[in-house]
Amino acid sequence: MYKQDNRLAVRGTYIHAPKLGEIEVVESALIVVGAAGAVEQILLPDDPSFEANCRAAKDAGHYVQLRENQYLLPGLVDLHVHAPQWPQAGRALRVPLEQWLQQYTFPLEARYSDIEFAQCVYQSLVNTLLANGTTTALYFASIHLESSLLLAQICLESGQRALVGKVSMDNPEQCPDYYREQSTSAGLATTEAFICGVKSLPNNQLSMVRPVVTPRFIPSCTDEMLLGLGQIANQHDCHVQTHCSESEWEHQYVLDRFGKSDTECLADMGLANGKSVFAHANFVSDEDMTIIHEAAVGIAHCPMSNIYFANSVFPTRKALNTGINVGLGTDIAGGPSPSLLFNCQMATSMSRILESGVDPTLRDSVRGVADSRLTFQEAFWMATAGGGAALGENIGVFKPGYCFDAIVVDFNVEHSNIANWPELENADEQLEKIIYNANRQNIVRVWVNGQTVVDRASSR
Ligand code: GUN
Ligand code: FE
Repeated sequence: MYKQDNRLAVRGTYIHAPKLGEIEVVESALIVVGAAGAVEQILLPDDPSFEANCRAAKDAGHYVQLRENQYLLPGLVDLHVHAPQWPQAGRALRVPLEQWLQQYTFPLEARYSDIEFAQCVYQSLVNTLLANGTTTALYFASIHLESSLLLAQICLESGQRALVGKVSMDNPEQCPDYYREQSTSAGLATTEAFICGVKSLPNNQLSMVRPVVTPRFIPSCTDEMLLGLGQIANQHDCHVQTHCSESEWEHQYVLDRFGKSDTECLADMGLANGKSVFAHANFVSDEDMTIIHEAAVGIAHCPMSNIYFANSVFPTRKALNTGINVGLGTDIAGGPSPSLLFNCQMATSMSRILESGVDPTLRDSVRGVADSRLTFQEAFWMATAGGGAALGENIGVFKPGYCFDAIVVDFNVEHSNIANWPELENADEQLEKIIYNANRQNIVRVWVNGQTVVDRASSR
């Protein structure tokens, strides 16, 4: 997938969320992308160089003009996805988290010692996420070095921007014999080997795929493992990802073991910094939120998964008001859907449920948590710019210097679920419709770093 020259010019209407809660619609723009895949300039038709730039791009054979009924949006950022769990997406959600891990998930993840199985699943998932418009994904792989490296390689070859973690888990009290690091020191050494392996993958010069230090969650790791991973992350200047205060059981487990919250522990272990992403964070306290904000840690909000495993709705409004960079995650397979647009919709819906409450036997004045609702504009920000900010990457908005990761949403495809009456609505409302009713057939083209990775437009 690696190309030396990613030059491109795309003409059409784009919609993005450069600021939380604000949507910007720019009609008839020309986005000019440079050889390294970053946006060079954004021109409007009244710019004196507009026509000349269109012509130059046409002559060079890299001009793309969107049709009516097509919108250009930033590529979606999935901030939390478990690649090896793809085969069980959409099943086994009737038991609590701790039982689900032991009964279904660890046995499935243990299979990734089989590299052929890994190849088949990982390619299927990466293709599916790209087709759904996910241009960047922050992945948990499994404990296995070889197949975790394979996932990184598949992302690179398929053209997806990815951050991939080999999972660390060494605590014999929480991890079964068949799915645990051989020892703490072996686990730490494997993590370092993984980091070096990803950095030296052929054609990864642009760091399109990055390694991530990945303690599964505090219960699966010994103290030595957590401390060692903190040191490795620091030495290698790596991203970190883990689950944080996800469920009541997990939150209480950490309080019982350390007398502290997940957030305090992770900070003590050197695992909370500007390159860290904590998944879920449902049960964090106000003090934890302050720590997360001050350390510039991002949060991956996974609204679907939280319904099943956290029995709660993440107080997203509060986190955003605190100034935390919150993005969205599918959390496959705790969340059943590979679509981040669906999770956008769910983030909005769940926040309404949190605000209003749902038990009709209670008076409406005591049923919910006031001021919890999110708008679709805010959910869209989280799925794009918010995810990018959480990762510290220049992605998620259209802006000179930012990577050109983008999707084309077409209202007019066959079998679309979107009712298309443009004369009745403005572009903001059309974005709302995209969030509620677009699915993969509406996503006709996907670029990552200026390279086409999905193209259904030209095949029609
Ligand atoms: N906590 C520890 N492991 C997992 C996992 O695989 N999925 C979710 N949702 N939570 C976890
Ligand atoms: Fe998860």
